[in-house]
Amino acid sequence: MGAQIIDGKAIADGLRETVRARVEERVHRRQPRPGLAVVLIGDAPASLVYVRNKKLACEWVGMNSFEFSRPAVTSEAKLLDLIGQLNADERVNGILIQLPLPGHIDTNKVIEAISPDKDVDGFHPYNIGRLNIGRPVYRPCTPQGIMSLLEFTGIKLAGMDAVIVGRSNIVGRPLIAELLDKDCTPTICHSYTRDIGDQVRGADIVIAAVGRPGFIQGTWIKPGAIVIDVGINHLPNGRLSGDVDFESARQVAGYITPVPGGVGPMTIACLLQNTLIAAESR
Ligand code: GUN
Repeated sequence: MGAQIIDGKAIADGLRETVRARVEERVHRRQPRPGLAVVLIGDAPASLVYVRNKKLACEWVGMNSFEFSRPAVTSEAKLLDLIGQLNADERVNGILIQLPLPGHIDTNKVIEAISPDKDVDGFHPYNIGRLNIGRPVYRPCTPQGIMSLLEFTGIKLAGMDAVIVGRSNIVGRPLIAELLDKDCTPTICHSYTRDIGDQVRGADIVIAAVGRPGFIQGTWIKPGAIVIDVGINHLPNGRLSGDVDFESARQVAGYITPVPGGVGPMTIACLLQNTLIAAESR
């Protein structure tokens, strides 16, 4: 029969529209427009695209965006200084430092320099800690978007076995806390896992975030499972591929997200939502 496609773009459009309406209400009440500072160090092509999309999304919902593009040779001290200025700037409600950073900059140090109440990425140890004790303030955007997609299916998540492939700080690790909060039983697989296929075969929910095109095969998918593909891989032929072999997986899964048009648009919508929350909680 084939899986139902989870239309992340349509769900994200709905969320963005809600944010846009709330920004308009603020403006109507003569409150300042929320402001997001986006910092890009270097000119990695993928990062340039992400930063441009974030800026366009801010404009679409009526938020102010402040872009700070700096050369790849920018020193850590200079970047920390910029973050200090943004922490103190009243027009800036949220600060996003586009990752990855060049190798000479300590990413953890940079993240910890962001004021936790402007950390709309949800990466600061304070926000990660709050998420892990079930009292989140700012939740990392991609895991938050994934949870919205899972909830959108209308399927009862409690009791489900969820397998996450990939243990990054941005996606895999925060997802453990998110899934636990919905009473799922999460397992995380990584490069040292003995048999990833075997783990995936038992999963009611599969979340792929490994950065390897077509890594998760249809033969691994349990019939009826929900498959969430976080991968955005650029193929030599110019096309995009997720981490899941979409054509084989869709034959078996109950629900599946496409690439593009699945998780990606949700990440940006959740960033806008976090920035709105930051402005409203001032
Ligand atoms: N690079 C890849 N994903 C993200 C993200 O969600 N936030 C930031 N700041 N950088 C990223």
